[in-house]
Amino acid sequence: METRIIDYFPEYNLGNAAQLLADGQLVAFPTETVYGLGADALNADAVRQIYQVKGRPSDNPLIVHIGQTQQAEELAEVTPLARQIMRDFWPGPLTLVLPARPGLLPPETTGGLATVGLRMPAHPAALQLLQDSQIAVAAPSANLSGRPSPTEAEHVWHDLQGKIPLIINGGECLAGLESTVLDLASPVPAILRPGVITAADLADLLPGLAEQTRLANGGIAKAPGMKYRHYAPRAKVLLCPTEHIFTTYQQCYQQLLNEGKNEPRIAVLASMNGLTGLAGAEHCFLLGENLAQVAQNLFAALRWTDEIQADLVLAERFPEQGLGIAIMNRLNKAAAGQ
Ligand code: TXA
Ligand code: MG
Repeated sequence: METRIIDYFPEYNLGNAAQLLADGQLVAFPTETVYGLGADALNADAVRQIYQVKGRPSDNPLIVHIGQTQQAEELAEVTPLARQIMRDFWPGPLTLVLPARPGLLPPETTGGLATVGLRMPAHPAALQLLQDSQIAVAAPSANLSGRPSPTEAEHVWHDLQGKIPLIINGGECLAGLESTVLDLASPVPAILRPGVITAADLADLLPGLAEQTRLANGGIAKAPGMKYRHYAPRAKVLLCPTEHIFTTYQQCYQQLLNEGKNEPRIAVLASMNGLTGLAGAEHCFLLGENLAQVAQNLFAALRWTDEIQADLVLAERFPEQGLGIAIMNRLNKAAAGQ
């Protein structure tokens, strides 16, 4: 299959993309978080292709993207609290898990659950596509399963070229981490996946959320997708406190030499602070000067370590507060299971 890339600019006619979705085909599109791989959420055959193309386990439910809040009422049971959260945070990087209306969404979309994750993305290309097509679009991140999520059209092309008909290029994603997944279907609301919208952001409407989330995550209540290996580059990933990066780098370099590596390639992913003292190190990726920049650049940095064929990745640890919770969630996954 030939994969076309079109460059989006405001008011660009996305009729062709809408038609592909209506025909049961896949379209990769930008959102404010990461690029999504979309299919008509009500078309089981179309959704099945998403799992095939990504190599994704089929018990992992997909987020359904909508362009109008009315669609949420059609697809799910929306409580007054959920409605208020939608008013305050949509369009934006927040997915709400709600009880699904029975018999509408195929099990391919919901992973066979009685709930559905809904979100209205804020990227103008995504919103326009959803509103023009009037289709509810099931879309996971547009990467091969297990790889870092794509934050540029180029990343989607790298993973999925030849497998899908169209990629809409809307530039670099602003947030860089996937949406916060908030469970409103359980008796006690909790965050199933941390993102740029934090428990503190939601505290006005959900005062106990931070504590409830801590309790829930000590148990088993997590997004089904969180159990899979994720975001992992080819090289082993070590996480390291800011003040130890320099000495750890030296130790690892020496150890790789001892193991017979000629010119060890240690990729260092760190903020401005973390890179202090590493002037002589060859393969450094500046993640940014603040947590928002770190979030935006993290997945591109993980992909870059593959490009340079790093032997080892040394990534800075960040304090697990605010946005740092979502960043460390992704870094811990990148470092796990290797
Ligand atoms: O920012 C995002 O959310 C991106 C963009 C494309 O919108 N999408 C995304 O989709 O990250 P995906 O499939 O990579 O991750 C969806 C997450 C998974 O962890 C999945 O288990 C969880 O949301 N999820 C979806 N529906 C759910 C449900 N009904 N109950 C619990 N978790 C659900
Ligand atoms: Mg994903």
